[in-house]
Amino acid sequence: MDRIRIVGGNKLNGTIPISGAKNAALPLMIASLLTDETLILENVPRLADVAQLQRILGNHGVDIMAAGKRPGDHEYQGQTLHISAANIIDTTAPYELVSRMRASFWVIAPLLARMHEAKVSLPGGCAIGTRPVDLLIEALEKLGADITIDGGYVIARAPGGLKGAEIDFPKVTVSGTHVALMAATLAKGTTVITNAACEPEVLDVADCLNKMGARVSGAGTPRIVVEGVTKLHGARHTVLPDRIETGTYAMAVAMTGGDVQLNGARPELLQAALDVLTEAGAEISVNNEGIRVTRNGAGIRPVNVSTSPFPGFPTDLQAQFMALMTRAGGASHITETIFENRFMHVQELARFGARIHLDGETAIVEGIETLRGAPVMATDLRASVSLVIAALAAEGETMVNRVYHLDRGFERLEDKLSACGATIERLSG
Ligand code: EPZ
Repeated sequence: MDRIRIVGGNKLNGTIPISGAKNAALPLMIASLLTDETLILENVPRLADVAQLQRILGNHGVDIMAAGKRPGDHEYQGQTLHISAANIIDTTAPYELVSRMRASFWVIAPLLARMHEAKVSLPGGCAIGTRPVDLLIEALEKLGADITIDGGYVIARAPGGLKGAEIDFPKVTVSGTHVALMAATLAKGTTVITNAACEPEVLDVADCLNKMGARVSGAGTPRIVVEGVTKLHGARHTVLPDRIETGTYAMAVAMTGGDVQLNGARPELLQAALDVLTEAGAEISVNNEGIRVTRNGAGIRPVNVSTSPFPGFPTDLQAQFMALMTRAGGASHITETIFENRFMHVQELARFGARIHLDGETAIVEGIETLRGAPVMATDLRASVSLVIAALAAEGETMVNRVYHLDRGFERLEDKLSACGATIERLSG
């Protein structure tokens, strides 16, 4: 299994191109199942999760062609996928494929909407809590699906097609909103989704669905209205930039000091995180190409944060921010409100000498002057990259094991960081 070796202590200086958002690319690819015409997605990041979803869609009979770069493309342009679900030959998503990535469970929505049946294994994914799918199932039942669970599979049927309904989520759920939205596009009548997730990735998917002929309004707000149509068609859509990748590199610069331009980044996608970074001592400025992050001279200041749904501070940046706070000049409180078990990085950050203790859903971080490199590993994607951030500022060598998790969500991580002066390399095998 690959490992990443980092020797800390270098400031980051240079330019990092921001890739397309993983958490938009995945549901966008899944939305291709809603039409028998070709969906062309541009700026799709080259990630293990994208490749895994290509295998899952392939199992349903979807043809995917990846086109190379074209003249005039930006250096940070991702791949262009031509996705054609002209013939869905299998409505089952098997355990072997779905258990490796939670988002693949979402195929249940377009399969049910278009084929009126789906059999999908209960999902796997990052180890960050129990992560049930009860709200997704309830939403599909509201839309008229008959659902049973048998042998680890969710079996959903709607012989006469789905019917528009009122879906009021008891808590904000990104997965529930994606599933309800996709399913409702082909339902008969109007669906109103309330307490919907407002994450930019939901808006991006809704924009693409509208290009495909869907009638969605209100996406990006807590109330989404979908007028069902009988058929969707092909479209071309560009995946929005990855706000979590943006925030991760911004935190890395705040950690090491230096001056980095994040090309293609859009500040409005992560304003809460940028505000927190400013409070912590980084300078953030916005320009035509994206966002510039600098920290020269000023120490890292402690800041308390609490994760919350968009537009709040994202749970997907909590681990990275905790890494930054390990070197702050004082104590900070970091509260995780979205997932009940998303502190797996705490014990690994302790290997660098970090002082963190947990009190329920809050981590109390006592900043220290110097971290020291260590062998570490993590069990989820964002926790893994928090260890990279700590390693970049630690004295000496760090070996990050289980790089598999980083490859799920960070495109060319070592290349992007080494281009800015970090000593970082991948060791194979
Ligand atoms: C999405 O997960 C993201 N994944 C996550 O990113 C992200 O952390 C999360 O949203 C929150 O922003 C993708 O987009 C692929 P939820 P999702 O449904 O949709 C509970 C990453 O690192 N819940 O908003 O699965 C759930 O347990 C990943 O890129 C239920 O109780 O998150 C959690 O506590 C990790 N029942 C809360 O809701 C349900 O049926 C929010 O989950 C569904 C969810």
